[in-house]
Amino acid sequence: MALLTGGCAWDGPQSSLAPRSDFGREILYVYAIVTWATAIIAVVVFVLLAWVLVRYRDRPGAAPAAQTRGHSLLEIGWTIAPALILLIIAIPTIQVIFRTQGRAAPGALDVEVRGWQWWWEFRYPALGVVTANELHLPIGQAVVLHLEGPDVIHSFWVPPIGGKRDVVPGRHNQMSFVVDTPGVYDGQCAEFCGASHANMRIRLVAETPGEFERWVEAQKAPPGESAGPAADGQAIYARLACVGCHTIQGVSGGVIGPDLTHVGSRRTIAAGLLPNTPENLAAWLRAPERIKPGVKMPNLGLGEADARALAAYLTSLK
Ligand code: CUA
Repeated sequence: MALLTGGCAWDGPQSSLAPRSDFGREILYVYAIVTWATAIIAVVVFVLLAWVLVRYRDRPGAAPAAQTRGHSLLEIGWTIAPALILLIIAIPTIQVIFRTQGRAAPGALDVEVRGWQWWWEFRYPALGVVTANELHLPIGQAVVLHLEGPDVIHSFWVPPIGGKRDVVPGRHNQMSFVVDTPGVYDGQCAEFCGASHANMRIRLVAETPGEFERWVEAQKAPPGESAGPAADGQAIYARLACVGCHTIQGVSGGVIGPDLTHVGSRRTIAAGLLPNTPENLAAWLRAPERIKPGVKMPNLGLGEADARALAAYLTSLK
């Protein structure tokens, strides 16, 4: 039991038992009803079972137990009781399904979520912001995520915020909610999507409206002038294949990989795999396939010095 339950925590980083949004609370409400209903059933069944085992156990010299066939009262009873239990579970479940699939409040913040092998793209059409892997949202405001996928099926899941929702190519799914507590919440892709499915993490940064506004302003500003090693890095970036896949405002316009305009402002790199430090960035640039198996980003055969310069440039993009 100690080994089995050692990883359990009430409020672990990916716990759905400590909800931080209205959607998360709805899910926990249904979960609690189902848990209590099944716990009561388990207690009744185990107590009855124990009683039968003791009461009717084989004793030396005892006659065989009486066999009963056709007991209308019992049969009606064990038909009605499960039907009632299912009804008790079904009514709130269906109510919550409708509530969590409903339309968002007018004036909600729209965010387009795209699942790529193996990273997340977040676009804020009304704000003119595009970012990757870290979803910034203001607390206390209704948000609608529009989920779409360009390659295979993924599933967006940040457990404290709410249930999973699939990201399906050619289909528009959406989920809406209001985050109520500031914090950084972990999530991950919850639908097997290839070699690095497990390396497709999400960070949801829930901020006060003021902090969110400052973040948006910073993301909309063009990157500053590079100097020193960062300027060398920028020259390397412009010379290499990077420009074909990535966007950096005013520098390149590729759309296959994550937008890097403000990559230096993110907490992590490689879809949440590593803290965003110049050392980790350089290691990633030199051999991305060693950090994320199957990654679409090619190994460009960068030398140590070039990787460091490029990392200095990317780190400077705050
Ligand atoms: Cu994307 Cu699993």
